[in-house]
Amino acid sequence: TPSKVLEQFRLHGKVVVVTGAADGIGLAVADAMAEAGANVALWYNSNDAAVQRSQELAREYSIKALAYKVDVSDAAQVQKAVSEVVHDFQKIDVFIANAGMSISKPILEQTLDEYRKQMSVNVDGVVFCAKYAGEIFRRQGFGNLIVTSSMSGHIVNVPVDQPVYNATKAYVTHFAKSLAREWRDFARVNIVSPGFFDTKMGAGPLALNEAYRMSAMGRQGHVKEIKGLYLYLASDASTYMTGSDVLIDGGYVL
Ligand code: NAI
Repeated sequence: TPSKVLEQFRLHGKVVVVTGAADGIGLAVADAMAEAGANVALWYNSNDAAVQRSQELAREYSIKALAYKVDVSDAAQVQKAVSEVVHDFQKIDVFIANAGMSISKPILEQTLDEYRKQMSVNVDGVVFCAKYAGEIFRRQGFGNLIVTSSMSGHIVNVPVDQPVYNATKAYVTHFAKSLAREWRDFARVNIVSPGFFDTKMGAGPLALNEAYRMSAMGRQGHVKEIKGLYLYLASDASTYMTGSDVLIDGGYVL
């Protein structure tokens, strides 16, 4: 680790995977990683704008960037994509398990399929990514997993009732903390818990009822305001940090 602090934030030579990289937080984070000099693997599911974005990032920052179509709720696809990334980039330094979705409804209004969908993307998706990236980390003897959870994993968010989403986020937060211990000899694992950000997800029912006004800052966050936190966690500026869960919510959970 360099002793000059700005040097510690440089990601040159590192390989970073970002899931959910076509939109919102994931897109901003992939951009931040590339700007800091990392080679990036953009995982996307439905929005193939990630393909073009990866080409733009490669040109703009003179890095290597490739896009992979992966449904993170499908273990076989995750396993295959992890080995493709290792084949294409030779290693994985940082894996950012960011893809997620919400169906913001009370449990009594929710179908079983809606329940299972959230579990499969938010829980299975993170577990599968961690499992297959973790195999690579163990083999390499190094690695860094960052999980996008939510402040909804800390608190029962009001006034929108979304018990299943909240519980998926509590699950992945505790799962990631457990991995920080399990992987102590070869990898760091940290959690980002955002509050209300102005993404597609943040534009749903949560924005309509303006729940973000209940935060100390009284506004939504912009995705450019979350880039620095992921950069910090991905970089050698945070080498003593593992198992931490960082809230970034404009002072909602106080
Ligand atoms: P977004 O909806 O803009 O992006 C989510 C991304 O995940 C999309 O690119 C989508 O295609 C991808 N995705 C969904 N299902 C997938 C699947 N089965 N396989 C692969 N990719 C899949 O939402 P946003 O806000 O950028 O969300 C990113 C993460 O941040 C999510 O985990 C979300 O739960 C979390 N979060 C967002 C907050 C917000 O206010 N925007 C607040 C707290 C947490």
